Amino acid sequence: MFKAVLILISTINILFLITYSVADKPCVSRKYNHSSVVCVCNATYCDEISKINVLETDQYVIYSSSMSGQRFEKQYGSLNKNNINEFQKADNVILHINRSNEFHKVSGFGGSFTDAAGINILSLSKNTQKYLIDSYFSENGLEYNLARVPIGGCDFSTHPYAYNMMPENDIELSNFSLTTEDHTYKIPFIKEALKVSTDNILLVGTAWSPPTWMKTNKAIGGESRLISEYYQTWANYHLKFLEEYNKKNVSFWAITTGNEPSNGILPIMGFNSLGWMPKEQSMWLVQNLGPTLKNSIFRNISIFALDDQRISLPWWIDWMAETEGAMDYIDGIAIHWYWNDFVSATPIETLHKSFPTKTFLATEACIGDKPWQLEKVELGSWERAEAYIKDIMEDLNHWHIGWIDWNLALDRQGGPNWIENYVDSPIIVMPNEDEFLKQPMFYGLGHFSKFIPRDSKRIDVQKVNGDIDNVAFLRPDGGITVVYYNPFDIDKSLTIQEEGKGFIQMTVQARSVHTLVYW
Ligand SMILES: *[C@@H]1O[C@H](CO)[C@@H](O)[C@H](O)[C@H]1NC(C)=O
Ligand SMILES: *[C@@H]1O[C@H](CO)[C@@H](O)[C@H](O)[C@H]1NC(C)=O
Ligand SMILES: *[C@@H]1O[C@H](CO)[C@@H](O)[C@H](O)[C@H]1NC(C)=O
Ligand SMILES: *[C@@H]1O[C@H](CO)[C@@H](O)[C@H](O)[C@H]1NC(C)=O
Ligand SMILES: *[C@@H]1O[C@H](CO)[C@@H](O)[C@H](O)[C@H]1NC(C)=O
Ligand SMILES: *[C@@H]1O[C@H](CO)[C@@H](O)[C@H](O)[C@H]1NC(C)=O
Repeated sequence: MFKAVLILISTINILFLITYSVADKPCVSRKYNHSSVVCVCNATYCDEISKINVLETDQYVIYSSSMSGQRFEKQYGSLNKNNINEFQKADNVILHINRSNEFHKVSGFGGSFTDAAGINILSLSKNTQKYLIDSYFSENGLEYNLARVPIGGCDFSTHPYAYNMMPENDIELSNFSLTTEDHTYKIPFIKEALKVSTDNILLVGTAWSPPTWMKTNKAIGGESRLISEYYQTWANYHLKFLEEYNKKNVSFWAITTGNEPSNGILPIMGFNSLGWMPKEQSMWLVQNLGPTLKNSIFRNISIFALDDQRISLPWWIDWMAETEGAMDYIDGIAIHWYWNDFVSATPIETLHKSFPTKTFLATEACIGDKPWQLEKVELGSWERAEAYIKDIMEDLNHWHIGWIDWNLALDRQGGPNWIENYVDSPIIVMPNEDEFLKQPMFYGLGHFSKFIPRDSKRIDVQKVNGDIDNVAFLRPDGGITVVYYNPFDIDKSLTIQEEGKGFIQMTVQARSVHTLVYW
């Protein structure tokens, strides 16, 4: 599949030889009514991107995707060792990479094994299912290595439920068992993913709502609190979940303190929730959840606090920290992306200064959630890919160790969702055609997940002249990954330079995203 075209480009009297090729196994594109295309996969064909090989020193590869329809198209070359000053032009953006100025380490990227994702994957034939899982997790896919798993039901289930709904007031959780959803929609696909992944997939568990009898309002959604006599039962519930999944050989890396506690305080949406204020939740953490986990075989499981919008920062964590011992149980802070457009990342910097050992993890993102987004699934929307790219870059530039997308797959409507809270997903299934469609968002996320392996360290980039959003990493194999994005409707001239290594001079197409890797 190597279609090489040699192009001679003359820039300031110097000739470059650049080799272009199509993607490893190219996208079969289809245009719907939006700005860009989707890539169509079926039982016999799906586009792929091979695991990246370490190149010789000073060789580079650039992968490109664009509104105009490129998907992971590759270009090879060698770093230019000439004097960079010959290339300075007034309108040229320059990115200076400095690998000796290091920041945090990355844990990974991924999506979520919701009931809806499982139902949608199952709606396809076996071969097509395999291509879908491979697209995300295998070495020929995005190489996802993080995933979130709801503990019980959430809105992306066909009905509201939690474990041990019956009998009521069952303080011993005597009837706790996994559900059909776990056995049919979650565990089989988690196992498939683990099987094809070359990395260890780190799982994050999150509960949405306890069984209704533990709650003040006796309902799955709405305004609620945990009844105080069930504080320990709710901690044991988490333990039982981890035990049951362990019996299935599925072990978790982390849990969060619960999905979006604000949703049970100001219930705008009536889906599964539990309301907490930071003071109450930190008491539960210190007296119940924390000690329960630390005294169990799950003592190494990380606990992420918040699991809610950025707007809750930093006050939520500051308030939690007032409870003695609370921060000792917290390994990191989980943040959802909704409303990030309206809230700057400054509070993350503030929190990082106050709590330098705590990590930040983006645990949920999707588009189409807003009431004014009337079309929930937009097939081929480049703008939605842009929103992902922009947010991932911003988070990575502000201490985030990873970014987890929401549903791995949804249907044409953006569901199923028992409360009709339909949204978009990077993969949309079309069961009647036995196809699935990879949205531009899929590739936007892939420009990070594929090329920033676990334990890569963010490094400094100094930007000169203008605006090409970017983020750079030193990979464990000694390579440098730079992801950069041109949000403008015009092409931009760009130089990426590292002192002592050389530079690359290029034109960055309008509305396009790129990943450069060199050694
Ligand atoms: C695109 O839009 C046209 C007119 O708005 C509509 O008739 C058509 O069904 C749409 N096509 C698709 C594939 O959604
Ligand atoms: C699957 O897609 C490939 C590539 O577009 C196409 O050649 C093939 O006919 C499709 N198979 C089916 C069963 O639709
Ligand atoms: C790179 O960063 C290090 C550490 O901050 C600094 O000492 C050095 O001067 C920087 N190098 C360049 C070329 O800017
Ligand atoms: C235990 O839970 C199941 C559903 O998982 C329910 O059918 C059954 O009635 C419950 N048992 C009791 C004693 O409530
Ligand atoms: C779990 O793994 C063990 C050891 O590999 C194996 O014997 C057992 O059958 C597995 N259990 C399940 C439920 O997969
Ligand atoms: C927890 O981690 C420590 C240190 O990494 C390790 O020695 C220990 O075996 C782990 N314990 C469990 C229960 O996994």
